[in-house]
Amino acid sequence: MDTTPEPFESVIAGPQGSGVAPSDGPPLLSLRGISKSFGAVQAMRHVDLDVPAGQVTAIIGDNGAGKSTLIKTISGIWAQSSGHILWKGQEVHIHTPRDASDLGIATVYQDLSLCDNLDIVQNMYLGRETTKKGLLNEIEMEIATRKTLSDLSVSTVKSVRQLVGSLSGGQRQAVAVARAVMRESELVILDEPTAALGVSQTAQVLELIHTLKSHGLAVIVISHNLSDVFAVADRIAVMYLGTLVHEGPISQYDTASAVELITTGRSSRVPNTVATSV
Ligand SMILES: Nc1ncnc2c1ncn2[C@@H]1O[C@H](COP(=O)(O)OP(=O)(O)OP(=O)(O)O)[C@@H](O)[C@H]1O
Ligand SMILES: [Mg+2]
Repeated sequence: MDTTPEPFESVIAGPQGSGVAPSDGPPLLSLRGISKSFGAVQAMRHVDLDVPAGQVTAIIGDNGAGKSTLIKTISGIWAQSSGHILWKGQEVHIHTPRDASDLGIATVYQDLSLCDNLDIVQNMYLGRETTKKGLLNEIEMEIATRKTLSDLSVSTVKSVRQLVGSLSGGQRQAVAVARAVMRESELVILDEPTAALGVSQTAQVLELIHTLKSHGLAVIVISHNLSDVFAVADRIAVMYLGTLVHEGPISQYDTASAVELITTGRSSRVPNTVATSV
């Protein structure tokens, strides 16, 4: 089995290359009537959501609202109990993380799953090392790692041979994103990417999200931080008690209406609340 990752050049070209979102055609990802139950707990109810390429979609909502359940369903951690997932307009069945990554869905979870005692290159290639004549091809992996970080405009890392344990929170996030997008990715999902970060590191991660978007990738970001959301998102989807209660372009919302939607599931300040069951 060839486990050599695709060179990043092909990734960063993105699905559109130009970085311009397509104005027609089906959305990159569509969810239709997605529900998920854990025994008696219904974590997600009839979620409909479109995720366009070249845009950042923020999923917001209170603790336990169903945000992680939603992205874990898209990422193949578990299958939905009912409903359909469409990728570029075609129905797909995502049963495993491998299914998701084969489609071009890359997910960065909050714990990042990096190994502190390994350097950046080793983390980037963990479990899918490049070999040449039976030996690790360190030079190729190092060059590709440098190229990936530079394509993502990550300039603060001094050496790709630095141990990940010595990196700052923002740099660790950048390495995790770089690793996720090494394979051809069209959708990058970030769960709380700035939760543990200070001001300047947060700015770096928001910049990284901008870079992904400018290469035409779709980004889904889960965040509790509304100032980050308003800084980076093109669209907002609000979850409340397992239901997607409101969804639309960022220009429809302000902090007050977003807080109202998060805490009560409705807001008189925004048009067309889609919720009926809360
Ligand atoms: N593996 C599981 N088994 C049972 N119940 C679960 C499981 N995962 C999530 N739930 C339940 O599903 C609901 C939604 O949880 P989820 O983790 O999706 O919330 P969230 O919006 O990500 O919250 P947070 O902001 O706290 O991360 C919660 O009531 C939670 O207890
Ligand atoms: Mg969560």
